[in-house]
Amino acid sequence: MADSIFGSIYILLLLCYKVVTEDIHRGEHYVAAIYEHHVILNPNPTAIVSRQSALELMNRNLDIYEEQVIAAARQGAHIIVFPEDGIQGFNFTRTSIYPYLDFIPDLDSVTWNPCKEANLFNDTEVLHRLSCMALKSQVFLVANLGTKQPCKQRDRHCPNDGRYQFNTNVVFSDSGKLIARYRKQNLYFEYAFNTPPKVDYIIFDTPFADKFGIFTCFDILFHEPTVTLIKQHKIKQIAYPTAWMNQLPLLSAIEFQQAFATAFDINLLAANIHYPDLDMTGSGIYTPSKSFVYYDMESIDGRLIVAQIPVIPLHKTHMEDEIISNRIQDSFSSFHMDNQICHMDDEDGSCLREEKSTKKAPSIFYEEMMYDNFTLLPLTEPEGDIQVCSKALCCYLNYQKLIFSNELYVLGVFDGLHTVHGTYYVQACVLVKCASLNYTSCGQGITKANGLIDFQLQGNFSTAFIFPLLLRSGVTLDYADHLGWKHNYYVMQKKGASSGLITAGLYGRWYEKD
Ligand SMILES: *[C@@H]1O[C@H](CO)[C@@H](O)[C@H](O)[C@H]1NC(C)=O
Ligand SMILES: *[C@@H]1O[C@H](CO)[C@@H](O)[C@H](O)[C@H]1NC(C)=O
Ligand SMILES: *[C@@H]1O[C@H](CO)[C@@H](O)[C@H](O)[C@H]1NC(C)=O
Ligand SMILES: *[C@@H]1O[C@H](CO)[C@@H](O)[C@H](O)[C@H]1NC(C)=O
Ligand SMILES: *[C@@H]1O[C@H](CO)[C@@H](O)[C@H](O)[C@H]1NC(C)=O
Repeated sequence: MADSIFGSIYILLLLCYKVVTEDIHRGEHYVAAIYEHHVILNPNPTAIVSRQSALELMNRNLDIYEEQVIAAARQGAHIIVFPEDGIQGFNFTRTSIYPYLDFIPDLDSVTWNPCKEANLFNDTEVLHRLSCMALKSQVFLVANLGTKQPCKQRDRHCPNDGRYQFNTNVVFSDSGKLIARYRKQNLYFEYAFNTPPKVDYIIFDTPFADKFGIFTCFDILFHEPTVTLIKQHKIKQIAYPTAWMNQLPLLSAIEFQQAFATAFDINLLAANIHYPDLDMTGSGIYTPSKSFVYYDMESIDGRLIVAQIPVIPLHKTHMEDEIISNRIQDSFSSFHMDNQICHMDDEDGSCLREEKSTKKAPSIFYEEMMYDNFTLLPLTEPEGDIQVCSKALCCYLNYQKLIFSNELYVLGVFDGLHTVHGTYYVQACVLVKCASLNYTSCGQGITKANGLIDFQLQGNFSTAFIFPLLLRSGVTLDYADHLGWKHNYYVMQKKGASSGLITAGLYGRWYEKD
Protein backbone atom coordinates (compact mmCIF):
# COMPACT_ATOMS: atom_id res chain seq x y z
CA MET A 1 0.00 0.00 0.00
CA ALA A 2 2.60 2.49 1.15
CA ASP A 3 4.78 1.47 -1.76
CA SER A 4 2.15 2.19 -4.29
CA ILE A 5 1.32 5.55 -2.75
CA PHE A 6 4.94 6.60 -2.83
CA GLY A 7 5.17 5.16 -6.29
CA SER A 8 2.39 7.44 -7.49
CA ILE A 9 3.85 10.46 -5.76
CA TYR A 10 7.15 9.72 -7.42
CA ILE A 11 5.52 9.46 -10.83
CA LEU A 12 3.56 12.63 -10.18
CA LEU A 13 6.75 14.46 -9.30
CA LEU A 14 8.37 13.23 -12.46
CA LEU A 15 5.39 14.40 -14.46
CA CYS A 16 5.46 17.80 -12.82
CA TYR A 17 9.14 18.09 -13.41
CA LYS A 18 8.68 17.24 -17.06
CA VAL A 19 5.91 19.76 -17.44
CA VAL A 20 7.84 22.47 -15.68
CA THR A 21 10.87 22.04 -17.89
CA GLU A 22 8.63 22.03 -20.92
CA ASP A 23 6.96 25.20 -19.74
CA ILE A 24 10.30 26.90 -19.51
CA HIS A 25 11.22 25.66 -22.93
CA ARG A 26 7.92 26.65 -24.51
CA GLY A 27 7.30 29.83 -22.58
CA GLU A 28 4.46 30.54 -20.21
CA HIS A 29 2.52 32.73 -22.60
CA TYR A 30 1.87 32.91 -26.27
CA VAL A 31 0.20 35.38 -28.59
CA ALA A 32 -3.00 34.22 -30.25
CA ALA A 33 -4.97 35.92 -33.00
CA ILE A 34 -8.43 35.39 -34.41
CA TYR A 35 -10.08 37.20 -37.27
CA GLU A 36 -13.84 37.76 -37.43
CA HIS A 37 -14.26 38.00 -41.18
CA HIS A 38 -16.97 39.89 -43.01
CA VAL A 39 -17.24 37.27 -45.74
CA ILE A 40 -17.77 38.38 -49.33
CA LEU A 41 -20.66 36.12 -50.31
CA ASN A 42 -21.57 34.68 -53.63
CA PRO A 43 -24.86 36.45 -54.50
CA ASN A 44 -26.24 33.30 -56.10
CA PRO A 45 -24.75 30.29 -54.31
CA THR A 46 -26.93 27.70 -56.05
CA ALA A 47 -25.73 28.60 -59.55
CA ILE A 48 -23.12 26.34 -61.15
CA VAL A 49 -19.95 28.28 -61.96
CA SER A 50 -16.51 27.46 -63.35
CA ARG A 51 -13.52 26.74 -61.11
CA GLN A 52 -12.05 29.96 -62.43
CA SER A 53 -14.93 32.15 -61.23
CA ALA A 54 -15.09 30.23 -57.94
CA LEU A 55 -11.42 31.04 -57.42
CA GLU A 56 -12.04 34.70 -58.23
CA LEU A 57 -14.58 34.98 -55.43
CA MET A 58 -12.44 33.01 -52.97
CA ASN A 59 -9.39 35.09 -53.80
CA ARG A 60 -11.23 38.23 -52.77
CA ASN A 61 -11.75 36.74 -49.33
CA LEU A 62 -8.19 35.40 -49.28
CA ASP A 63 -6.85 38.88 -50.07
CA ILE A 64 -8.36 40.04 -46.77
CA TYR A 65 -6.98 36.99 -44.96
CA GLU A 66 -3.53 37.84 -46.25
CA GLU A 67 -3.66 41.38 -44.89
CA GLN A 68 -4.83 40.08 -41.52
CA VAL A 69 -2.10 37.46 -41.28
CA ILE A 70 0.49 40.17 -41.87
CA ALA A 71 -1.15 42.46 -39.31
CA ALA A 72 -1.34 39.66 -36.73
CA ALA A 73 2.29 38.67 -37.27
CA ARG A 74 3.33 42.27 -36.85
CA GLN A 75 1.73 42.15 -33.40
CA GLY A 76 3.68 39.06 -32.53
CA ALA A 77 0.99 36.40 -33.09
CA HIS A 78 2.15 32.78 -33.02
CA ILE A 79 -1.13 31.49 -34.43
CA ILE A 80 -4.12 32.94 -36.24
CA VAL A 81 -7.56 31.35 -36.64
CA PHE A 82 -10.08 32.19 -39.38
CA PRO A 83 -13.81 31.37 -39.37
CA GLU A 84 -15.78 28.55 -40.92
CA ASP A 85 -17.05 29.27 -44.46
CA GLY A 86 -14.96 32.43 -44.59
CA ILE A 87 -13.41 31.67 -47.98
CA GLN A 88 -16.31 30.35 -50.07
CA GLY A 89 -19.39 31.46 -48.09
CA PHE A 90 -22.49 29.31 -47.55
CA ASN A 91 -25.91 28.21 -48.83
CA PHE A 92 -24.53 26.10 -51.69
CA THR A 93 -25.97 22.85 -52.99
CA ARG A 94 -23.85 19.72 -53.31
CA THR A 95 -23.35 20.43 -57.01
CA SER A 96 -22.93 24.19 -56.88
CA ILE A 97 -20.17 24.05 -54.26
CA TYR A 98 -18.06 21.64 -56.30
CA PRO A 99 -16.01 24.29 -58.17
CA TYR A 100 -15.10 25.81 -54.79
CA LEU A 101 -13.57 22.61 -53.40
CA ASP A 102 -9.84 22.01 -53.04
CA PHE A 103 -8.35 18.55 -53.16
CA ILE A 104 -6.46 17.55 -50.03
CA PRO A 105 -4.32 14.41 -49.75
CA ASP A 106 -4.34 12.03 -46.81
CA LEU A 107 -1.80 13.57 -44.46
CA ASP A 108 -0.95 10.19 -42.92
CA SER A 109 0.79 9.21 -46.14
CA VAL A 110 2.16 12.55 -47.42
CA THR A 111 4.20 15.39 -46.03
CA TRP A 112 3.33 18.45 -48.00
CA ASN A 113 4.14 22.11 -48.04
CA PRO A 114 1.71 23.55 -50.62
CA CYS A 115 3.59 26.85 -50.92
CA LYS A 116 6.89 25.15 -51.67
CA GLU A 117 5.42 22.29 -53.72
CA ALA A 118 2.64 24.03 -55.61
CA ASN A 119 2.26 21.48 -58.40
CA LEU A 120 2.12 18.25 -56.48
CA PHE A 121 -1.68 18.03 -56.75
CA ASN A 122 -4.36 19.64 -58.89
CA ASP A 123 -7.10 21.88 -57.52
CA THR A 124 -5.17 23.10 -54.51
CA GLU A 125 -5.06 26.82 -55.17
CA VAL A 126 -6.66 27.80 -51.87
CA LEU A 127 -4.35 25.58 -49.84
CA HIS A 128 -1.45 27.05 -51.75
CA ARG A 129 -2.36 30.61 -50.87
CA LEU A 130 -2.97 29.81 -47.20
CA SER A 131 0.32 27.93 -46.96
CA CYS A 132 2.22 30.86 -48.43
CA MET A 133 0.59 33.27 -45.96
CA ALA A 134 1.74 31.09 -43.05
CA LEU A 135 5.23 30.75 -44.46
CA LYS A 136 5.66 34.40 -45.36
CA SER A 137 4.55 35.67 -41.95
CA GLN A 138 5.90 32.67 -40.02
CA VAL A 139 2.73 32.02 -38.08
CA PHE A 140 0.62 28.94 -37.54
CA LEU A 141 -2.55 29.40 -39.56
CA VAL A 142 -5.94 27.73 -39.13
CA ALA A 143 -8.60 28.14 -41.80
CA ASN A 144 -11.74 26.42 -43.05
CA LEU A 145 -12.55 25.48 -46.63
CA GLY A 146 -14.51 22.97 -48.67
CA THR A 147 -12.57 19.92 -49.82
CA LYS A 148 -13.21 16.98 -52.14
CA GLN A 149 -11.96 13.44 -52.01
CA PRO A 150 -12.64 10.91 -54.76
CA CYS A 151 -13.90 7.54 -53.51
CA LYS A 152 -14.59 4.11 -54.96
CA GLN A 153 -18.08 2.64 -55.02
CA ARG A 154 -16.80 -0.39 -53.11
CA ASP A 155 -16.40 1.99 -50.14
CA ARG A 156 -19.90 1.62 -48.76
CA HIS A 157 -19.97 5.20 -47.49
CA CYS A 158 -18.97 6.61 -50.87
CA PRO A 159 -21.67 8.98 -52.21
CA ASN A 160 -23.26 8.15 -55.57
CA ASP A 161 -21.34 10.83 -57.41
CA GLY A 162 -18.04 9.17 -56.52
CA ARG A 163 -16.62 11.75 -54.19
CA TYR A 164 -16.77 12.96 -50.63
CA GLN A 165 -17.22 16.66 -49.99
CA PHE A 166 -16.10 17.80 -46.58
CA ASN A 167 -16.36 20.94 -44.49
CA THR A 168 -12.68 21.02 -43.55
CA ASN A 169 -10.35 22.89 -41.21
CA VAL A 170 -6.70 22.99 -42.20
CA VAL A 171 -3.67 23.90 -40.12
CA PHE A 172 -0.36 25.15 -41.49
CA SER A 173 2.82 25.41 -39.47
CA ASP A 174 4.89 28.57 -39.55
CA SER A 175 6.91 27.08 -42.40
CA GLY A 176 3.79 26.62 -44.51
CA LYS A 177 3.58 22.86 -44.05
CA LEU A 178 0.08 21.41 -43.97
CA ILE A 179 0.10 19.71 -40.56
CA ALA A 180 -3.54 18.90 -39.84
CA ARG A 181 -6.91 18.46 -41.45
CA TYR A 182 -10.19 18.17 -39.55
CA ARG A 183 -13.46 17.25 -41.26
CA LYS A 184 -16.56 18.56 -39.51
CA GLN A 185 -18.55 15.89 -37.75
CA ASN A 186 -21.76 17.68 -36.76
CA LEU A 187 -22.95 19.35 -39.92
CA TYR A 188 -25.63 21.99 -39.45
CA PHE A 189 -28.03 21.31 -42.33
CA GLU A 190 -25.12 21.63 -44.79
CA TYR A 191 -26.40 19.58 -47.69
CA ALA A 192 -23.30 20.43 -49.73
CA PHE A 193 -21.13 18.32 -47.40
CA ASN A 194 -20.68 14.75 -46.17
CA THR A 195 -20.00 13.60 -42.64
CA PRO A 196 -16.60 11.85 -42.57
CA PRO A 197 -16.86 8.03 -42.57
CA LYS A 198 -14.98 7.98 -39.25
CA VAL A 199 -14.87 10.73 -36.62
CA ASP A 200 -11.71 12.83 -36.91
CA TYR A 201 -9.94 13.36 -33.57
CA ILE A 202 -7.34 15.88 -34.62
CA ILE A 203 -4.58 17.38 -32.54
CA PHE A 204 -1.56 19.31 -33.69
CA ASP A 205 1.57 20.27 -31.86
CA THR A 206 3.07 23.74 -31.62
CA PRO A 207 6.43 24.94 -30.28
CA PHE A 208 4.78 27.76 -28.30
CA ALA A 209 1.81 26.15 -26.52
CA ASP A 210 1.93 22.37 -26.70
CA LYS A 211 -0.95 20.50 -28.34
CA PHE A 212 -4.07 22.05 -29.82
CA GLY A 213 -7.35 20.33 -30.55
CA ILE A 214 -9.58 21.47 -33.37
CA PHE A 215 -13.26 21.25 -34.30
CA THR A 216 -15.89 23.37 -36.03
CA CYS A 217 -18.98 25.40 -35.11
CA PHE A 218 -21.89 23.10 -34.16
CA ASP A 219 -19.42 20.42 -32.95
CA ILE A 220 -19.08 22.46 -29.76
CA LEU A 221 -22.46 21.16 -28.55
CA PHE A 222 -21.67 17.46 -29.00
CA HIS A 223 -19.65 14.72 -27.37
CA GLU A 224 -17.90 13.62 -30.55
CA PRO A 225 -15.30 14.66 -31.32
CA THR A 226 -15.27 17.53 -28.84
CA VAL A 227 -15.42 15.99 -25.38
CA THR A 228 -13.45 12.89 -26.30
CA LEU A 229 -10.74 15.05 -27.81
CA ILE A 230 -10.40 17.25 -24.75
CA LYS A 231 -10.66 14.54 -22.11
CA GLN A 232 -8.74 11.70 -23.72
CA HIS A 233 -6.01 13.73 -25.32
CA LYS A 234 -5.75 16.16 -22.40
CA ILE A 235 -6.15 19.14 -24.66
CA LYS A 236 -5.72 22.61 -23.17
CA GLN A 237 -5.87 24.72 -26.33
CA ILE A 238 -8.56 24.68 -29.00
CA ALA A 239 -8.66 26.33 -32.42
CA TYR A 240 -12.30 26.82 -33.34
CA PRO A 241 -13.54 28.15 -36.70
CA THR A 242 -17.27 28.82 -36.61
CA ALA A 243 -20.13 30.39 -38.55
CA TRP A 244 -22.60 30.82 -35.72
CA MET A 245 -25.97 32.49 -35.85
CA ASN A 246 -26.65 34.06 -32.49
CA GLN A 247 -29.63 32.93 -30.54
CA LEU A 248 -30.44 34.68 -27.31
CA PRO A 249 -30.93 34.21 -24.45
CA LEU A 250 -28.82 31.03 -24.19
CA LEU A 251 -26.80 30.46 -27.34
CA SER A 252 -25.20 33.69 -28.45
CA ALA A 253 -21.74 32.95 -29.87
CA ILE A 254 -19.58 34.72 -27.28
CA GLU A 255 -21.84 33.56 -24.45
CA PHE A 256 -21.35 29.90 -25.25
CA GLN A 257 -17.69 30.20 -26.29
CA GLN A 258 -16.87 31.72 -22.92
CA ALA A 259 -18.90 29.07 -21.10
CA PHE A 260 -17.07 26.33 -22.98
CA ALA A 261 -13.59 27.65 -22.13
CA THR A 262 -14.55 28.02 -18.47
CA ALA A 263 -16.28 24.65 -18.21
CA PHE A 264 -13.35 22.69 -19.65
CA ASP A 265 -10.65 24.94 -18.19
CA ILE A 266 -9.07 25.51 -21.59
CA ASN A 267 -8.03 28.30 -23.92
CA LEU A 268 -10.39 28.67 -26.87
CA LEU A 269 -9.51 30.61 -30.02
CA ALA A 270 -12.88 31.17 -31.66
CA ALA A 271 -13.28 32.92 -35.01
CA ASN A 272 -16.79 33.61 -36.28
CA ILE A 273 -18.14 35.06 -39.51
CA HIS A 274 -19.15 38.71 -39.31
CA TYR A 275 -22.54 39.11 -40.92
CA PRO A 276 -24.97 41.05 -38.68
CA ASP A 277 -27.86 40.69 -41.17
CA LEU A 278 -27.71 36.95 -40.52
CA ASP A 279 -27.13 37.42 -36.76
CA MET A 280 -23.55 36.31 -37.16
CA THR A 281 -21.00 38.07 -34.96
CA GLY A 282 -19.15 37.05 -31.83
CA SER A 283 -15.57 35.82 -31.73
CA GLY A 284 -12.95 35.77 -29.08
CA ILE A 285 -9.81 34.56 -27.43
CA TYR A 286 -10.82 32.94 -24.15
CA THR A 287 -8.86 31.65 -21.23
CA PRO A 288 -10.82 29.91 -18.45
CA SER A 289 -11.20 33.22 -16.62
CA LYS A 290 -10.64 36.01 -19.11
CA SER A 291 -11.79 36.89 -22.60
CA PHE A 292 -10.97 39.22 -25.47
CA VAL A 293 -14.04 39.38 -27.66
CA TYR A 294 -15.65 41.08 -30.61
CA TYR A 295 -19.41 41.37 -30.88
CA ASP A 296 -20.89 44.11 -33.04
CA MET A 297 -24.32 44.11 -34.64
CA GLU A 298 -23.93 47.68 -35.97
CA SER A 299 -20.70 47.76 -37.92
CA ILE A 300 -20.22 45.64 -41.02
CA ASP A 301 -16.48 45.42 -40.48
CA GLY A 302 -14.50 42.37 -39.53
CA ARG A 303 -12.08 42.52 -36.61
CA LEU A 304 -8.66 41.16 -35.77
CA ILE A 305 -8.11 40.32 -32.12
CA VAL A 306 -4.60 39.64 -30.86
CA ALA A 307 -3.98 38.74 -27.24
CA GLN A 308 -1.23 37.29 -25.13
CA ILE A 309 -2.58 34.44 -23.05
CA PRO A 310 -1.05 31.96 -20.62
CA VAL A 311 -0.30 28.41 -21.69
CA ILE A 312 -2.42 26.26 -19.39
CA PRO A 313 -0.12 23.67 -17.85
CA LEU A 314 -1.06 20.09 -18.62
CA HIS A 315 -0.72 18.75 -15.10
CA LYS A 316 -3.73 20.82 -14.08
CA THR A 317 -5.93 18.38 -15.92
CA HIS A 318 -5.69 15.77 -13.19
CA MET A 319 -6.66 18.13 -10.45
CA GLU A 320 -9.02 20.62 -11.93
CA ASP A 321 -12.25 19.04 -10.72
CA GLU A 322 -11.04 18.76 -7.18
CA ILE A 323 -9.66 22.27 -7.11
CA ILE A 324 -12.91 23.73 -8.31
CA SER A 325 -15.04 21.82 -5.86
CA ASN A 326 -12.75 22.76 -2.97
CA ARG A 327 -12.96 26.37 -3.95
CA ILE A 328 -16.71 26.16 -3.87
CA GLN A 329 -16.82 24.43 -0.51
CA ASP A 330 -14.51 26.99 1.02
CA SER A 331 -16.52 29.89 -0.16
CA PHE A 332 -20.01 28.75 0.65
CA SER A 333 -19.95 28.92 4.41
CA SER A 334 -22.73 31.48 4.27
CA PHE A 335 -24.95 29.54 1.98
CA HIS A 336 -28.19 31.51 2.12
CA MET A 337 -30.34 28.71 0.90
CA ASP A 338 -29.20 26.37 3.62
CA ASN A 339 -31.66 27.72 6.12
CA GLN A 340 -34.41 28.69 3.85
CA ILE A 341 -34.95 26.07 1.25
CA CYS A 342 -32.23 23.52 1.43
CA HIS A 343 -30.25 21.67 3.99
CA MET A 344 -27.16 21.13 1.94
CA ASP A 345 -25.19 19.48 4.66
CA ASP A 346 -26.99 16.19 4.82
CA GLU A 347 -24.82 13.15 4.65
CA ASP A 348 -25.92 12.26 1.17
CA GLY A 349 -25.96 15.85 0.00
CA SER A 350 -29.63 15.73 -0.82
CA CYS A 351 -31.67 18.84 -0.53
CA LEU A 352 -34.51 18.75 1.95
CA ARG A 353 -37.14 21.33 1.37
CA GLU A 354 -38.52 23.26 4.27
CA GLU A 355 -41.95 24.73 4.16
CA LYS A 356 -41.62 28.41 3.51
CA SER A 357 -43.65 31.01 5.33
CA THR A 358 -47.34 31.39 4.77
CA LYS A 359 -46.81 33.89 1.97
CA LYS A 360 -48.49 32.65 -1.16
CA ALA A 361 -45.94 31.58 -3.72
CA PRO A 362 -46.32 32.90 -7.28
CA SER A 363 -47.33 30.20 -9.65
CA ILE A 364 -45.29 28.59 -12.37
CA PHE A 365 -46.02 28.97 -16.05
CA TYR A 366 -44.65 27.57 -19.32
CA GLU A 367 -43.09 29.44 -22.17
CA GLU A 368 -40.96 28.50 -25.11
CA MET A 369 -37.30 29.51 -24.91
CA MET A 370 -34.83 28.41 -27.59
CA TYR A 371 -37.73 26.25 -28.94
CA ASP A 372 -37.89 24.35 -25.66
CA ASN A 373 -40.81 24.28 -23.25
CA PHE A 374 -39.36 25.87 -20.10
CA THR A 375 -41.05 25.84 -16.72
CA LEU A 376 -40.80 29.36 -15.32
CA LEU A 377 -41.29 31.23 -12.10
CA PRO A 378 -41.19 35.04 -11.81
CA LEU A 379 -38.97 36.88 -9.33
CA THR A 380 -41.75 38.87 -7.70
CA GLU A 381 -40.03 40.11 -4.55
CA PRO A 382 -37.03 42.37 -3.89
CA GLU A 383 -35.30 39.24 -2.64
CA GLY A 384 -36.12 35.62 -2.15
CA ASP A 385 -35.49 31.92 -2.51
CA ILE A 386 -37.37 30.12 -5.20
CA GLN A 387 -37.23 26.82 -6.97
CA VAL A 388 -38.60 25.21 -10.11
CA CYS A 389 -38.40 21.59 -11.14
CA SER A 390 -38.90 19.62 -14.32
CA LYS A 391 -38.40 15.88 -14.60
CA ALA A 392 -35.18 15.02 -12.74
CA LEU A 393 -33.85 18.57 -12.50
CA CYS A 394 -34.62 21.09 -9.76
CA CYS A 395 -33.25 24.62 -10.00
CA TYR A 396 -32.85 26.87 -6.97
CA LEU A 397 -32.33 30.60 -6.91
CA ASN A 398 -31.43 32.83 -4.04
CA TYR A 399 -31.64 36.42 -5.21
CA GLN A 400 -31.49 40.00 -4.11
CA LYS A 401 -32.42 42.81 -6.48
CA LEU A 402 -30.05 45.70 -5.88
CA ILE A 403 -32.05 48.41 -7.57
CA PHE A 404 -35.66 48.71 -8.50
CA SER A 405 -36.07 48.24 -12.22
CA ASN A 406 -39.44 47.78 -13.82
CA GLU A 407 -38.41 44.57 -15.54
CA LEU A 408 -39.63 41.00 -15.37
CA TYR A 409 -37.07 38.32 -14.50
CA VAL A 410 -37.83 34.61 -14.32
CA LEU A 411 -36.16 31.47 -13.06
CA GLY A 412 -36.50 28.68 -15.60
CA VAL A 413 -35.85 24.97 -15.87
CA PHE A 414 -35.74 22.64 -18.83
CA ASP A 415 -34.92 18.94 -18.82
CA GLY A 416 -35.53 17.37 -22.19
CA LEU A 417 -34.54 16.65 -25.74
CA HIS A 418 -34.10 19.73 -27.87
CA THR A 419 -35.39 18.90 -31.35
CA VAL A 420 -35.41 22.10 -33.43
CA HIS A 421 -32.33 22.89 -35.57
CA GLY A 422 -30.53 19.84 -34.23
CA THR A 423 -31.27 17.11 -31.72
CA TYR A 424 -29.54 17.19 -28.38
CA TYR A 425 -30.50 16.65 -24.74
CA VAL A 426 -30.41 19.71 -22.50
CA GLN A 427 -30.70 20.20 -18.77
CA ALA A 428 -30.77 23.90 -17.97
CA CYS A 429 -31.32 26.22 -15.03
CA VAL A 430 -31.60 29.83 -16.13
CA LEU A 431 -32.31 33.29 -14.80
CA VAL A 432 -33.37 35.54 -17.68
CA LYS A 433 -34.96 38.89 -18.29
CA CYS A 434 -38.21 38.75 -20.25
CA ALA A 435 -38.75 41.04 -23.24
CA SER A 436 -41.62 42.85 -21.53
CA LEU A 437 -43.74 42.60 -18.37
CA ASN A 438 -45.98 40.12 -20.14
CA TYR A 439 -45.28 36.50 -19.16
CA THR A 440 -45.63 35.44 -22.81
CA SER A 441 -42.50 37.49 -23.60
CA CYS A 442 -40.27 35.33 -21.40
CA GLY A 443 -37.72 33.36 -23.37
CA GLN A 444 -37.45 35.89 -26.17
CA GLY A 445 -34.04 37.28 -27.00
CA ILE A 446 -33.25 40.73 -25.62
CA THR A 447 -29.99 42.67 -25.54
CA LYS A 448 -30.57 45.41 -22.96
CA ALA A 449 -31.31 45.20 -19.26
CA ASN A 450 -31.03 47.31 -16.12
CA GLY A 451 -31.66 44.75 -13.43
CA LEU A 452 -28.80 44.38 -10.98
CA ILE A 453 -29.27 41.14 -9.11
CA ASP A 454 -27.03 39.33 -6.66
CA PHE A 455 -27.75 35.66 -6.98
CA GLN A 456 -26.86 32.11 -6.37
CA LEU A 457 -28.22 29.70 -8.94
CA GLN A 458 -27.94 25.95 -8.62
CA GLY A 459 -29.37 22.72 -9.89
CA ASN A 460 -29.11 19.00 -9.21
CA PHE A 461 -27.96 18.03 -12.68
CA SER A 462 -27.68 14.47 -13.93
CA THR A 463 -24.75 15.33 -16.17
CA ALA A 464 -21.25 16.52 -15.29
CA PHE A 465 -21.13 18.79 -18.34
CA ILE A 466 -22.41 22.19 -17.27
CA PHE A 467 -21.71 25.33 -19.29
CA PRO A 468 -22.00 28.48 -17.15
CA LEU A 469 -23.60 31.41 -19.02
CA LEU A 470 -23.38 34.99 -17.77
CA LEU A 471 -24.41 37.76 -20.10
CA ARG A 472 -25.04 41.41 -19.35
CA SER A 473 -26.66 44.36 -21.05
CA GLY A 474 -25.32 45.09 -24.51
CA VAL A 475 -24.39 41.40 -24.90
CA THR A 476 -21.27 41.71 -22.79
CA LEU A 477 -19.64 38.92 -20.83
CA ASP A 478 -19.18 38.61 -17.12
CA TYR A 479 -17.65 35.97 -14.86
CA ALA A 480 -19.20 34.32 -11.84
CA ASP A 481 -17.59 34.72 -8.41
CA HIS A 482 -17.93 31.01 -7.75
CA LEU A 483 -18.69 28.03 -9.90
CA GLY A 484 -18.65 24.32 -9.31
CA TRP A 485 -20.10 21.30 -7.61
CA LYS A 486 -21.27 21.15 -4.07
CA HIS A 487 -22.47 17.63 -3.38
CA ASN A 488 -24.94 16.86 -6.16
CA TYR A 489 -25.53 20.48 -7.02
CA TYR A 490 -23.77 22.62 -9.55
CA VAL A 491 -23.63 26.18 -8.21
CA MET A 492 -23.06 29.60 -9.74
CA GLN A 493 -22.78 32.65 -7.52
CA LYS A 494 -22.40 36.29 -8.50
CA LYS A 495 -22.54 39.43 -6.39
CA GLY A 496 -21.88 43.06 -7.13
CA ALA A 497 -22.98 43.36 -10.71
CA SER A 498 -21.87 46.29 -12.80
CA SER A 499 -24.54 46.25 -15.47
CA GLY A 500 -27.99 44.82 -16.14
CA LEU A 501 -28.44 41.06 -16.30
CA ILE A 502 -29.65 39.44 -19.52
CA THR A 503 -28.90 35.79 -18.77
CA ALA A 504 -27.39 33.77 -15.98
CA GLY A 505 -27.54 30.12 -16.83
CA LEU A 506 -26.29 26.66 -16.14
CA TYR A 507 -26.58 24.97 -19.49
CA GLY A 508 -26.08 21.24 -19.06
CA ARG A 509 -25.53 18.79 -21.87
CA TRP A 510 -26.60 15.23 -21.10
CA TYR A 511 -24.85 13.61 -24.06
CA GLU A 512 -25.90 10.04 -23.30
CA LYS A 513 -29.56 10.95 -23.86
CA ASP A 514 -29.11 12.49 -27.33
C1 LIG B 1 -28.73 31.12 -46.13
O1 LIG B 1 -29.67 30.19 -45.62
C2 LIG B 1 -30.22 30.55 -44.38
C3 LIG B 1 -31.02 29.43 -43.85
O2 LIG B 1 -31.27 28.47 -44.79
C4 LIG B 1 -31.03 31.81 -44.57
O3 LIG B 1 -31.61 32.19 -43.35
C5 LIG B 1 -30.13 32.89 -45.05
O4 LIG B 1 -30.86 34.05 -45.35
C6 LIG B 1 -29.37 32.47 -46.30
N1 LIG B 1 -28.32 33.44 -46.48
C7 LIG B 1 -28.06 33.97 -47.65
C8 LIG B 1 -26.96 34.96 -47.66
O5 LIG B 1 -28.64 33.66 -48.65
C1 LIG C 1 -3.77 17.58 -63.19
O1 LIG C 1 -4.70 17.73 -64.22
C2 LIG C 1 -4.15 17.62 -65.52
C3 LIG C 1 -5.22 17.98 -66.54
O2 LIG C 1 -6.44 17.40 -66.23
C4 LIG C 1 -3.63 16.20 -65.69
O3 LIG C 1 -3.05 16.04 -66.97
C5 LIG C 1 -2.57 15.94 -64.61
O4 LIG C 1 -2.13 14.60 -64.68
C6 LIG C 1 -3.11 16.21 -63.24
N1 LIG C 1 -2.03 16.17 -62.29
C7 LIG C 1 -2.12 15.47 -61.16
C8 LIG C 1 -0.93 15.57 -60.26
O5 LIG C 1 -3.09 14.81 -60.85
C1 LIG D 1 -45.21 22.58 -21.60
O1 LIG D 1 -45.14 21.63 -20.56
C2 LIG D 1 -46.28 21.62 -19.70
C3 LIG D 1 -46.01 20.66 -18.56
O2 LIG D 1 -45.63 19.44 -19.05
C4 LIG D 1 -47.51 21.27 -20.51
O3 LIG D 1 -48.65 21.31 -19.66
C5 LIG D 1 -47.67 22.26 -21.65
O4 LIG D 1 -48.76 21.90 -22.47
C6 LIG D 1 -46.42 22.31 -22.47
N1 LIG D 1 -46.53 23.38 -23.45
C7 LIG D 1 -46.31 23.18 -24.73
C8 LIG D 1 -46.48 24.36 -25.62
O5 LIG D 1 -46.00 22.10 -25.18
C1 LIG E 1 -33.29 16.60 -7.90
O1 LIG E 1 -34.09 16.99 -6.81
C2 LIG E 1 -35.46 16.60 -6.92
C3 LIG E 1 -36.20 17.19 -5.73
O2 LIG E 1 -35.55 16.86 -4.55
C4 LIG E 1 -35.56 15.09 -6.97
O3 LIG E 1 -36.90 14.69 -7.14
C5 LIG E 1 -34.74 14.58 -8.13
O4 LIG E 1 -34.74 13.18 -8.17
C6 LIG E 1 -33.30 15.08 -8.02
N1 LIG E 1 -32.57 14.68 -9.19
C7 LIG E 1 -31.46 13.99 -9.12
C8 LIG E 1 -30.79 13.67 -10.41
O5 LIG E 1 -30.99 13.61 -8.07
C1 LIG F 1 -49.50 39.35 -23.45
O1 LIG F 1 -49.11 38.90 -24.74
C2 LIG F 1 -50.11 38.09 -25.36
C3 LIG F 1 -49.53 37.50 -26.63
O2 LIG F 1 -48.65 38.40 -27.24
C4 LIG F 1 -51.36 38.94 -25.61
O3 LIG F 1 -52.35 38.14 -26.21
C5 LIG F 1 -51.85 39.48 -24.29
O4 LIG F 1 -52.93 40.36 -24.49
C6 LIG F 1 -50.75 40.22 -23.54
N1 LIG F 1 -51.20 40.54 -22.20
C7 LIG F 1 -51.09 41.77 -21.70
C8 LIG F 1 -51.59 41.96 -20.32
O5 LIG F 1 -50.60 42.68 -22.34
